[in-house]
Amino acid sequence: MTELHRAVITGIGAYLPENIVTNEDLSKRVETTDAWIYARTGIRRRHVARDDEMTSDLALAASRQAMSRAGLGAEDLDLIVLATTTPDSTFPATATRVQAELGVTQGAAFDIQAVCSGFIYALSVADNAIKLGQSRNALVIGAETFTRLLDWNDRSTCVLFGDGAGAVTLSRATDGNADDRGILSTHLHSDGRFYNLLYVDGGPSSTGTTGHVRMLGPEVFKHAVNKLSDSVEEALAANGMTSADVDWFVPHQANKRIIDSTAKKLGISTDRIILTVDEHANTSAASIPLALETGVRDGRIKKGDLVVLEAIGGGLSWGASVVRW
Ligand code: ACO
Repeated sequence: MTELHRAVITGIGAYLPENIVTNEDLSKRVETTDAWIYARTGIRRRHVARDDEMTSDLALAASRQAMSRAGLGAEDLDLIVLATTTPDSTFPATATRVQAELGVTQGAAFDIQAVCSGFIYALSVADNAIKLGQSRNALVIGAETFTRLLDWNDRSTCVLFGDGAGAVTLSRATDGNADDRGILSTHLHSDGRFYNLLYVDGGPSSTGTTGHVRMLGPEVFKHAVNKLSDSVEEALAANGMTSADVDWFVPHQANKRIIDSTAKKLGISTDRIILTVDEHANTSAASIPLALETGVRDGRIKKGDLVVLEAIGGGLSWGASVVRW
């Protein structure tokens, strides 16, 4: 029987483009107000990439920070998994551009497409590769220039999203898991019957265009709260834990109302939630590592803490992960 290894998060990095667009700014473009947006979503502002800034540029900045904090060089990495819905080009994978810019010439680099749950999916793939001995040091990135998919005349969607990137380095535990740190489990789900609740009305094989985000907001909201709370419960139960064991809840940052309702259903108090959606809106696959980086940098998330990650997005696809930091 193959020996299973534990994957530990050893470094984390984040990058947000400089350009900030406030709710007030948006109210000059579409019929909306700061009060409406904040009350319905908890969002105050979002970062928007410059025209010449690509997803790979954002990913690279976050990756460099994560690698430097982990003390890992290009020669150490043997796997790069990049979650994105907004690749630089239809192909090759944006991960390969990041690989080249980092100076990594060994191992594999590829993209994962699971929209807003992409980071959990990418984490799961890299975790499994480390578990099975296929990888020793992996880079897991969530990076998006999601605003490129927005219809700036559609007030029901254009106020919700932003651009950004976050990255973590995952390494095989060296101490034989003695202190129980690392990725304890990941849990993935999707149900394509809900395709039409949240999608882009374009693509290389359908229209030949990039397309724009279309969404049935209230429907997504209902699915989100139920599916997220179910998958967190599933993830905790798989580790013999309950929400009472959770030190930090780091949800996908789509909407404060979804986060609050999910946490309430799970019995997780607001002082245990890392909330960053006000600062950068929904950055899709980047939102979890961005929130995680905030919690780590400001000292709330400490070594040994039990951290629960969750996300849902187009597909519908969703999932959760339990991590001992
Ligand atoms: N400013 C002002 N009014 C608006 C805006 C806006 N930006 N957008 C919509 N409205 C109006 C609508 O036109 C509607 O007007 P009407 O009653 O005259 O028809 C009214 O506000 C209510 O619209 P609803 O869509 O019913 O508003 P709701 O309370 O559901 O809030 C929202 C909309 C914020 C999109 C909510 O449904 C939601 O959060 N859904 C989850 C969607 C989400 O977060 N998606 C992100 C991707 S998926 C994920 O990452 C989880």
